[in-house]
Amino acid sequence: MAHLHCPSLVVSQAAEVLINATNQSMDSWDQSPSATIIEIKLIEWLRSQVGYPAGDAGVFTSGGTQSNLMGLMLARDAFYARQGHSVQQHGITGDLRKIKVLCSENAHFSVQKNMALLGHGYQSVVQVKSDKFARMDVNDLQAKLAQAEANGEQILAIVATAGTTDAGAIDPLREIAGIAAKHNIWVHVDAAWGGALLLSEKYRHYLDGLELVDSVTLDFHKQYFQTISCGAFLLKDERHYELMRYQAAYLNSEFDEEAGVPNLVSKSLQTTRRFDALKLWMGLEALGQKQYAAIIDHGVSLAQDVAAFVAAEPRLELVMQPQLASVLFRYRPAQLTDNAQVALFNQRIGDALLESGRANVGVTESEGVTCLKLTLLNPTVTLDDVKTLLALVEKTANQLLNA
Ligand SMILES: Cc1ncc(COP(=O)(O)O)c(C=O)c1O
Repeated sequence: MAHLHCPSLVVSQAAEVLINATNQSMDSWDQSPSATIIEIKLIEWLRSQVGYPAGDAGVFTSGGTQSNLMGLMLARDAFYARQGHSVQQHGITGDLRKIKVLCSENAHFSVQKNMALLGHGYQSVVQVKSDKFARMDVNDLQAKLAQAEANGEQILAIVATAGTTDAGAIDPLREIAGIAAKHNIWVHVDAAWGGALLLSEKYRHYLDGLELVDSVTLDFHKQYFQTISCGAFLLKDERHYELMRYQAAYLNSEFDEEAGVPNLVSKSLQTTRRFDALKLWMGLEALGQKQYAAIIDHGVSLAQDVAAFVAAEPRLELVMQPQLASVLFRYRPAQLTDNAQVALFNQRIGDALLESGRANVGVTESEGVTCLKLTLLNPTVTLDDVKTLLALVEKTANQLLNA
């Protein structure tokens, strides 16, 4: 329950055996014809779930970090292309201190890492404040845009998050897309976690506005219950793929190109690439969308029940109302009033539980103060199971207080 990794579907494990046994690589049609068709069909289907126009612009990736890298790279390259400059041909140019990316302070750290990797450094990432539910504050977004303009800075992308790593917060996607459109700024949505709601019956509307953005990260080794690794990147306008096109004759000859043979290597940062799409396809075939929705919704609904239980416990503090399948809370002993002491105490609870070998509860921070986190992805976990775990947390806390 500590982290955003799921128990995997048995069918995903079976698919994994087939992936390994057939060992097809997605980098050329002749190596993986059926796999290529399955991946393309899944990308088409995922696009339709997002609400993107029909098409197949997108690719399976190793996960959220790589998908975010693709979003940022294409946003950056499109930004330069609008100014008549090809980064692919000539590299980055201009005063890099004036080129920024905006994301909320709760966005995943891969935004910083990827901007460093792309040559812009951490300095390029400007953090927009979050509201009390850890969602991007659109007033601060407007203020940061105005400030950037006053400083002579240019914004190459806004990264919104649909499901922040700890709170599961979903930024107001529709509003952000509207603001970005006025400034002609690319929006990338990191839906590594919240993207699971595409299949949800009860909570799909949380992703309202996703169809408006330029690119999307999805991660199937989170709440799609696939084995590691399995992710996807979706690109709204396929013309942007031209920005990273490369024709390697040994993989796709000019004759293949003319004949319309699929060329997935050109859509990916990887060359040799696993047939991870098989896992999602087999998962969908085995479960059907309804059952898939049920196990996704279970985590979100359970988090709400757990939050109600935590809020009613005198020694536990609910840090925030859950939005996806995580619950942030603290143990607050009456004798500790200072936030620094409470923070250290909760760290010690997490450490003691891990050391005991009985439980691994997440330890993280909310607004700078350490708290505990349950990530409730396991569809077989019940409220009673979580109550048992919380009793263990309280028992461990009492032992530490009495030690
Ligand atoms: C919101 C978010 N984005 C991106 C990532 C990175 O995904 P991956 O670990 O698949 O690279 C994570 C990982 O937890 C995440 O929570």
